[in-house]
Amino acid sequence: MRKGRKRFSLLLSVFLLTSSFYFGSVQSSIVQAAPEKSNPSAKAFDQKVIARVDSERIYKDIHHLSEKIGPRVTGTKEEKQTAEFIKKRLQSYGYNVEVQEFNIPDQMIGHLLAGGNQIDINIPAGSAATAKEGLTAELYDAKLGKPEDFTAEVVGKIALISRGEFSFQEKVANAVAAGAAGVLIYDNIDSPGPLNPSIGGETSVPVGGISKASGLSLLNDIALQGKTVTFTVEKLGSATSQNIIGTRKPKKGSGHDIVHVSAHFDSVPFAPGANDNASGTSVALELARILKSYPIDKELRFVFVGAEEIGLVGSEHYVSQLSQDEVKRSIANFNMDMVGTDWENATAIFMNAVDGKANIVSETALATAKRIGTPSELILYQRGSSDHVSFHDAGIPAINFIRREPGTANLEPYYHTPQDTIEHISKERLQEAGELVGASIYSLIRN
Ligand code: BES
Ligand code: ZN
Repeated sequence: MRKGRKRFSLLLSVFLLTSSFYFGSVQSSIVQAAPEKSNPSAKAFDQKVIARVDSERIYKDIHHLSEKIGPRVTGTKEEKQTAEFIKKRLQSYGYNVEVQEFNIPDQMIGHLLAGGNQIDINIPAGSAATAKEGLTAELYDAKLGKPEDFTAEVVGKIALISRGEFSFQEKVANAVAAGAAGVLIYDNIDSPGPLNPSIGGETSVPVGGISKASGLSLLNDIALQGKTVTFTVEKLGSATSQNIIGTRKPKKGSGHDIVHVSAHFDSVPFAPGANDNASGTSVALELARILKSYPIDKELRFVFVGAEEIGLVGSEHYVSQLSQDEVKRSIANFNMDMVGTDWENATAIFMNAVDGKANIVSETALATAKRIGTPSELILYQRGSSDHVSFHDAGIPAINFIRREPGTANLEPYYHTPQDTIEHISKERLQEAGELVGASIYSLIRN
């Protein structure tokens, strides 16, 4: 495949990057092929990386993270188990490994027991907790949760409310005003995971989100039969998360420039997170293996990040711990998040920049893609929503590599659902991400 590809010039591709245009409401630029002179030595260096990228290994690690460990929710033992796995791996490669632990805001964990069945439930931030033994009460069918949907019958019961027409916050406020002892909101569209409602502020009663299927079965089997459910909301206080940082410095000298390679390893509840983000984590681990012993003239840091899914907490903590000198020496952040989906429409590799502008990372990746003949289109795009934001905010040039559908910028339909599993991972695309990002990093740090 690689042999037949055209050769392109580094300079021309950098020039092309500046020719951006508007695409929907968001600035983006599509990278076009440009004719070029060859650079044989750069190609030989690329080969040192790309010939070694092994998608089978990457796939095995994704399997371990998403199937063996499963959902790696921030602050849980599964997230910690993943951190330990990454730490051991980096140590086995000879990196200097630091475990950076930090506090995370109190997390709410919910359980819903109905007729002997556990029902998957999400608890929004701001929900009240229940007593330890939970709240056992009848359900009240509150329809959409309009004021007129409530009668005095709701007092002391758990209001079962459908999503739709107006905000979650208003539904909860109406239920509380009518005297409900708790609120369950069910989805109005089919989804394999429970609804994740956000309710704005603190509430005086426990609140949870469930799927449409769960809501309808509660309505028929429990509410209409006058049976009770037990709803428990527990506050997970003083929880912690952690970043795992593997560092390699050049043999000689000090005060080198630093290249940060990041990927978050936590996931949202109920999602095995194979693509989001066991994919980026496992590609980064593979690059750590490949780059563990080549001579380098810059400091290389693999930053495996926890607590991304609760608001980039891990990466913010990481950059907050960098000294001014380290920030000054930081020349690039390559962030990988969702690089392995097999969703057929996600044919492009988006390079998300917070400001939508080309930087050293996007330019390096673009030049590398031309040299090695990356099959997918690369699209420079303006978007946050991952850990590159924290690096960008600290003034470090950063790009998030992510697969999306060109034109719409859509993500795969499995995103943040229980269907984000290894069945939807493409080995070819893992290979492509590993080669592109790996050869790009190496072109910056090689001696
Ligand atoms: N893996 C996604 C990354 C992402 C990037 C999603 C671009 C959508 C667009 C990430 O884990 C995620 O879900 N991010 C959150 C925001 C974050 C600050 C919690 C999101 O986009 O909702
Ligand atoms: Zn993610």
